[in-house]
Amino acid sequence: MKRRRLAAALAIGLPIGLVLAAGAAVRASEAAIPGVRDARQARTDYQLKCQGCHRPDASGDNHSNPPMRGVVARFLSVPGGRAFIGRVPGVATVDLPDDRLANLVNWTLYRFDAAHVPADFKPYTAAEIGRLRRNPLRLERAAMRARLVADFAKTGSN
Ligand code: HEC
Repeated sequence: MKRRRLAAALAIGLPIGLVLAAGAAVRASEAAIPGVRDARQARTDYQLKCQGCHRPDASGDNHSNPPMRGVVARFLSVPGGRAFIGRVPGVATVDLPDDRLANLVNWTLYRFDAAHVPADFKPYTAAEIGRLRRNPLRLERAAMRARLVADFAKTGSN
């Protein structure tokens, strides 16, 4: 009888313990992203504001919406790329306050392309994002983007 109760307690307690431990591990790893104050908020904001175009896994598509997975942080290594990220319309005009947008942009860079984030990268702050988004790119963005992407080849990373 006693043993059965112990087995029952274990059967219930173990999975709960595992779930709690896994949750803590996820929170700990997400808390470690530079410039990301709230990873859960960033994930939700990405789902609501970005993935409709860029896709849930940031793979984009081959015609209108660029992939971010495995490539987006390369913009940080070419002259003008850092500002470009804060000025593309999808970023600049989204209806989120500056601090939540900085949180989201930093999360996006690490979540989808951590390998290309430069070692000396200083995360976007709310103030920087606020300044960049006040000057959103318009029609010139296609040519600007093409120029930046052409410069990727000069950075030596792959
Ligand atoms: C309506 C579709 C759309 C939405 C919504 C959107 N984007 Fe984009 N995004 C684009 C397109 C298209 C580009 C390419 C530049 C351009 O023409 O604006 C782009 C470019 C970018 C870039 C620069 C990288 C590159 O390859 O050009 C980043 C970073 C980015 N988006 C992040 C985001 C984030 C973060 C969100 C959510 C807040 C978001 N985007 C929402 C369509 C979208």
